[in-house]
Amino acid sequence: MSKNSNNDKLIIFDTTLRDGEQSPGASMTKDEKVRIAKALEKMRVDIIEAGFPIASQGDFESVQAVAKVIKNSTVCGLARALEKDINRAGEALKPAASSRIHTFIATSPIHMKMKLRMEPDQVLEQAVRSVKQACKFTDNVEFSPEDAGRSELDFLCRIIEAVIDAGATTINIPDTVGYNIPFQFGDLIKNLLERIPNAGKAIFSVHCHNDLGLAVGNSLSAVLNGARQVECTVNGLGERAGNASLEEVVMAVRTRQDVFSCDTTLDTTQIVTCSKMVSSITGFPVQPNKAIVGANAFAHESGIHQDGVLKSRETYEIMRAEDVGWSANRMVLGKHSGRNAFKTRMKELNIDFESEQELNDTFSRFKDLADKKHEIFDEDLQALVAETNWSAENEHFKLISLKVCSETGETPNASMVLDMGGNEVTASSDGSGPVDAVFRAIETVVNSETELQLYSVNAITSGTDAQGEVTVRLEKAGRIVSGQGADTDIVIASAKAYINALNKLVTGDEREHPQRGDV
Ligand code: KIV
Ligand code: ZN
Repeated sequence: MSKNSNNDKLIIFDTTLRDGEQSPGASMTKDEKVRIAKALEKMRVDIIEAGFPIASQGDFESVQAVAKVIKNSTVCGLARALEKDINRAGEALKPAASSRIHTFIATSPIHMKMKLRMEPDQVLEQAVRSVKQACKFTDNVEFSPEDAGRSELDFLCRIIEAVIDAGATTINIPDTVGYNIPFQFGDLIKNLLERIPNAGKAIFSVHCHNDLGLAVGNSLSAVLNGARQVECTVNGLGERAGNASLEEVVMAVRTRQDVFSCDTTLDTTQIVTCSKMVSSITGFPVQPNKAIVGANAFAHESGIHQDGVLKSRETYEIMRAEDVGWSANRMVLGKHSGRNAFKTRMKELNIDFESEQELNDTFSRFKDLADKKHEIFDEDLQALVAETNWSAENEHFKLISLKVCSETGETPNASMVLDMGGNEVTASSDGSGPVDAVFRAIETVVNSETELQLYSVNAITSGTDAQGEVTVRLEKAGRIVSGQGADTDIVIASAKAYINALNKLVTGDEREHPQRGDV
C-alpha cells in the first residue's frame, strides 16, 4: 500500500499550453492561450501549465495574461533548473491568484552525460538550489527529474529526497521519451514512495509521453501505485507522439471507480468543447476513432450494436455521450438571430470581445455565414473567432479574390488577387486538382521555398453546407508552422490556410525549446 493512498483526490495538471505547444506547428497566440485556459478553468482543471516564460517575450506575456485572468485554477510556469529561468517564471506568474513554478533537470545517465555534461552530484546540487530559488516566489513548487523513466532508482531517490527537503511540494516523474511499460512504471512509483523517507511530504505526479502508445496506460498504472497528480493534455497533444490524453485519463478513472481509489473533480461535460477548441486553434484534427472525443467514439455502426444499444444502452456503452459533453453540440443560432443573442452565446462560450468594433466585425461575419449556412452551431462560432485570431497576426499576405475552374476532362486552374505587403498582385496556375492549383498559384508570386508537410480538411459540423476547416503545415529550414482557414467553400478555406501559414513564417518569433541541452 502506497504512502499517498489515503488522499482520494486525483489532481489534473494540464500542459496543453506548454508541452502541447511543443508539437511541431502547434504554436498558439496569447489570445488563443487565454481562451483555452478559460475553457480549462471552466472544466475545473486543477493546474494549468501556461508556458515556459524564458522561451521568448511572447511566451512570457502569454503566461502573464493567463495568470491575470484565471481565478479558480492554479497557473504554472515551467523553468529549467536555472536562476534566470526561475526568476522569469516567478515574474510572469506574479498576477496569479494561485501560482506554481515547475522546475526540472535531467537525471538519466544518458541525459546527464551527453546533454548536460554534468556529474550526478552537480545535477543534485543544481536541483536543490533551483527549488530553493523557486520557493522565494511561491510555496507551490514542483520538481521534475527529466527522463526519470530511464534514470537509476538510487539516484532518483537521492535527488527527490533532497528537493523535498529544499521545499518541493510536488514531485513529477516524467517518462520523457515514452519508453516505459505500464507494470514497470507503476513499480517505479511504488518504489519511490516506499523508499524515499520524506515522500509523504509531497504529492507524486506523472508525466508520460506516448511514443509507444502507452502514455495513458503508464499514467493509470502510476495512479494505481500511489501517484496523485497526472500531467496530461487535451487530445493528447504534445512533443512527438504527444502526452497522456486528459480525456482518456479522466474518463478511465471516473468510469472505473471500482478499480481506482481516487477521482478527479473535473466537470467532464466540458471535455468535447475543450477538445474541439484545442483542435481548431492548433490545427491538429482529432481522429474519428479517438477515444472519448473522436466523432465515432459513441457512434454505433453495426446493426447488432445498434440493436443492443436501443434495448439497453449498457450493452455496448460504458459511458454516456452526454457526460463528456457530446449533447452540448446543438444548433444555437441562425439567420434571424440578433446581435444580442449572438453576444450572449459567445459569452457562454467564454469568448469576450476586446472592443465594440471587434464584436461588430465578428457579428457581420456571422451574418455572412448564416446567409450561406442555415444552422449555426457552437463549432461554427468558435471557428469564426479562431479565424479572427488567425488573420490578426500582422498579415503580410492577404487573399483579395479567388476564381477556380474545375471541370471533368479539363485541367483545374486557379487565378487570384493577393495583397503582398500593401501591393496587389495577380497570380494563376494549373494544378492536378483545384487545391493544388491554388497553392501553385500562390507560390508563383510568393516563392516561399517551403515544403508542404500536411494538408487536412475537417468538416466543422455535419451536413454538406458545413464549413470545412483546413490545416496546412509548412516547413522551411527546420521551422514548422501551421496555418488554418475555414469556409463553406473548402478551396477558399485551403487558400486561407496556406496564406495563414505563410504569414506565420514571415512574422514568427524564435522561441527557446525547454529541453535543449544548454542548461
Ligand atoms: O517530458 C518531460 O520530461 C517534460 C518535462 C519538462 C517535465 O516535459
Ligand atoms: Zn513532456
